[in-house]
Amino acid sequence: DKGNHRHFMEKEIHEQPEVISHALSHYVDFTTNKVTTQPGIDFAAVRSLAISACGTAYLAGLTGKYWFERYARLPVEIDVASEFRYREMPLSPDQAALFISQSGETADTLASLRYCKAEGLKIGAVVNVKESTIARESDAVFPILAGPEIGVASTKAFTCQLAVLAALSVAAGRARGTVSEAEEIALVKSLIEMPRIMNRVLNAVQPQIENLARDLSRYKDVLYLGRGTSYPLALEGALKLKEISYIHAEGYAAGELKHGPIALIDENMPVIVIAPHDRFFEKTISNMQEVAARGGKIIFITDEKGAAASKLATMATIVLPNVDEIIAPMVFALPIQLLAYHTAVFMGTDVDQPRNLAKSVTVE
Ligand code: F6R
Repeated sequence: DKGNHRHFMEKEIHEQPEVISHALSHYVDFTTNKVTTQPGIDFAAVRSLAISACGTAYLAGLTGKYWFERYARLPVEIDVASEFRYREMPLSPDQAALFISQSGETADTLASLRYCKAEGLKIGAVVNVKESTIARESDAVFPILAGPEIGVASTKAFTCQLAVLAALSVAAGRARGTVSEAEEIALVKSLIEMPRIMNRVLNAVQPQIENLARDLSRYKDVLYLGRGTSYPLALEGALKLKEISYIHAEGYAAGELKHGPIALIDENMPVIVIAPHDRFFEKTISNMQEVAARGGKIIFITDEKGAAASKLATMATIVLPNVDEIIAPMVFALPIQLLAYHTAVFMGTDVDQPRNLAKSVTVE
């Protein structure tokens, strides 16, 4: 049932504050602002973490890598499952592995899991479908509690995966002594605040994004740039746009711009810059200047501080509230999802059932 939404994707985008709140309640205590203990993987006892997944779930994992390394000082090896399973990488039982999958049935992700299991690693599954094969074959199941996701393009599963990975990285940091109690409380408070902020953002940006989507639908190529955790988000933005609007889109780490993609910049390829006012902001702005200097059109997705700090002319600037760094990926995911959605709606594509795609990829 789509309720009063045109598509399941739209419904699922708007469900995010509610389902994330539900997911979080499983991982953090709303009264003490602390993480709750999750059975299955002793993060204090492992030397490193391997993460494997496909598509959007992989991009959630890539964001998780930044968090586990920063908060838990836990080295993370991550790869798309179709590469991971064949790499013959050296693994040992003092490592743990996390597999992220909405469906819990993705063939390559499952094969990577079995490979790690055979090598003696502790296996954790970040899944939506709790009865899935990936969940059943894991030592620890970390449910994302997003509810059924019908739209083929993943939205709420992505942000719920992020919320769970963020909470797990804080839990791992506590277990490993790299996050203090005060830091834990501050981080968990930010996570708990997030659904309310997401609600506000969904309502605030909607009209502007619909207008922008009309403009964007006229282009054939789009580039997304971001640094730090905004880099996986740039990849996710490009993936979402190409999947449902069929516009060619690429995501790049902003610092890679001058190593290749800058050759493509002209007035026919809008550049979507994702840049909250974080410790990477100045660097990303200098990349944005390089785009502007070559006649590139910029769609700037930033926060209030970032908007005040940049003087560059843009095709559009989407201004989000200033938020704590740990929740920025989930909050910034919203305009990215909405932009892809409304662009596809303008182009008249089958948003919930994009051509050639399947919701669950059980063949290799
Ligand atoms: C993108 C998308 C796909 C899936 C990928 C993994 O919008 O939905 O990239 O994320 O096929 O699927 P799961 O998470 O079921 O393993």
